[in-house]
Amino acid sequence: MTKSKKHVPLTIVLVILSAVLLSLPLVIEIPKGETNPWIEFIGLYHPVFLHLPIGFLLLIVSIELYHVFTKKKNTHPMRFALVLNALASVNAALLGFVLYLTGSWSTEKIEDHLWSGLAYAVCSMWLPHIYSLTISRSRVPYMALLLGSAAVMNFAGHEGGLLTHGDPMDSAPWKPKEEKERKPIASPDDLADGEVFDPVFYTDVVVPIFEEKCYSCHGEKRGRGGLRMHEMELFLEGGDEEIALEPGNVEESFFLTSLHLPLDDDYHMPPENKPQVTEREAKLLEFWVASGATVDKKLSELDAPEDIIALLNASADVADAEEAPKETKKADSKTRTDELTSTVAKAQESLGTSLNWLSLDSPSLQFSAVSIRKQWNNEHIDALKSVATNLESLNLNGTTVGDDISSLLEESTQLRDLRLAETSISNEMLKSIPDSLEVLNLHSTQIDDSGVMHLQEKKNLKRIYLWNSKVTEEGKKKLSEMLPELEIL
Ligand code: HEC
Repeated sequence: MTKSKKHVPLTIVLVILSAVLLSLPLVIEIPKGETNPWIEFIGLYHPVFLHLPIGFLLLIVSIELYHVFTKKKNTHPMRFALVLNALASVNAALLGFVLYLTGSWSTEKIEDHLWSGLAYAVCSMWLPHIYSLTISRSRVPYMALLLGSAAVMNFAGHEGGLLTHGDPMDSAPWKPKEEKERKPIASPDDLADGEVFDPVFYTDVVVPIFEEKCYSCHGEKRGRGGLRMHEMELFLEGGDEEIALEPGNVEESFFLTSLHLPLDDDYHMPPENKPQVTEREAKLLEFWVASGATVDKKLSELDAPEDIIALLNASADVADAEEAPKETKKADSKTRTDELTSTVAKAQESLGTSLNWLSLDSPSLQFSAVSIRKQWNNEHIDALKSVATNLESLNLNGTTVGDDISSLLEESTQLRDLRLAETSISNEMLKSIPDSLEVLNLHSTQIDDSGVMHLQEKKNLKRIYLWNSKVTEEGKKKLSEMLPELEIL
């Protein structure tokens, strides 16, 4: 009885540990901002240590199977383990040699790994033999060979790791970060006298942009969303969800689309808190895709239009400074009244924190249905109506909202930013867009050419998202004739 009681504390500890391990991904999310250098560093040791349990488990299974099949008690467990180790090492070395024969690695880098790997296999082969021959007289020869093998294995493993994963120590948080020299986009300013400006478009224009804005998450080290862009072959394979790059096809190349999605969209790239791609860079990337996403063609071979050449000729600082400032929200001169504060508090009873003040002391409000999505209902509309005249930003992406939203919009006379992506609104509904609106998101809706025609009087509109809607190129052309200032994405 007492004996079984002794197991109780360990059982409890195991239950707790199991629960902790299994709940890790539920409790801890991938951090959105900068990755902590310690996280980067420790994570690199996964490939180093993951092989240990594989080996341990195989050893245990083999010993047990030996018992089962021979019906004998294994009186030499150490020799048994040494023989298994010899077999496993020779096997690994031979497989490694086959991999070497594929020629996928530069001979220079692989040399050390190749020879130390073979040397280790040889040591392992001798180990059980030396053990049997000498152990009854002296442990010395066996121990010497054993420790020597361990050293060789350590070296071989390290060299092998370098080939595939790089040296984890390079990322040690206590090491000063080597500022990698980053090549800027090619510019005629950098040329020596007499040199003609004719950059290789991919290497000298596209890669510098990717290097600065994308490779940290979609490059050699990481493949967020399943996408790696640093090698053309991988880039063309795309990510988990989308075809990232379709040479010659700007519309189907999702990486371009992602640049223009609303900032708070999960697929807006680079993510919200990262340095963004400028309009100039986006245009250069677009031209690259449109011209076939070549990797070795020079500017002169690509038949680039005037505006692309002009963009390249302008030095980056000037070009980016000239860009229209991103919609900066003017501080509202009106103030918040007590009455308004209490009305908003009441609306928040049913809307929760999805309804917010835009800034500390402005009376303007923003509403985002991100956390509501499919639970969207009429009650939400009624609550929003009570504060309609103060609404400046309304994000209803992905909700079940339909045309019933019209009555709210008609009252929202201050609305500047409206997002209705992935909803089932109809063309008809666009009649009720308020005149104040500046940004309208209609991506992945059923809106077509006749719908956007309702927007022709909306002189304040600066940007509209229409990708994956039913609006045709024809319709977009008409729209931009009516509203020449409008940016259509
Ligand atoms: C800070 C990290 C980070 C940076 C920088 C970044 N991305 Fe991403 N990217 C992600 C994450 C995370 C996802 C997955 C999003 C998801 O699944 O919700 C993603 C997904 C994508 C996808 C969709 C892949 C798929 O098929 O699911 C594309 C395309 C993409 N990124 C392009 C880019 C481009 C182009 C840049 C540079 C201009 C860039 N990203 C910069 C983190 C980043």
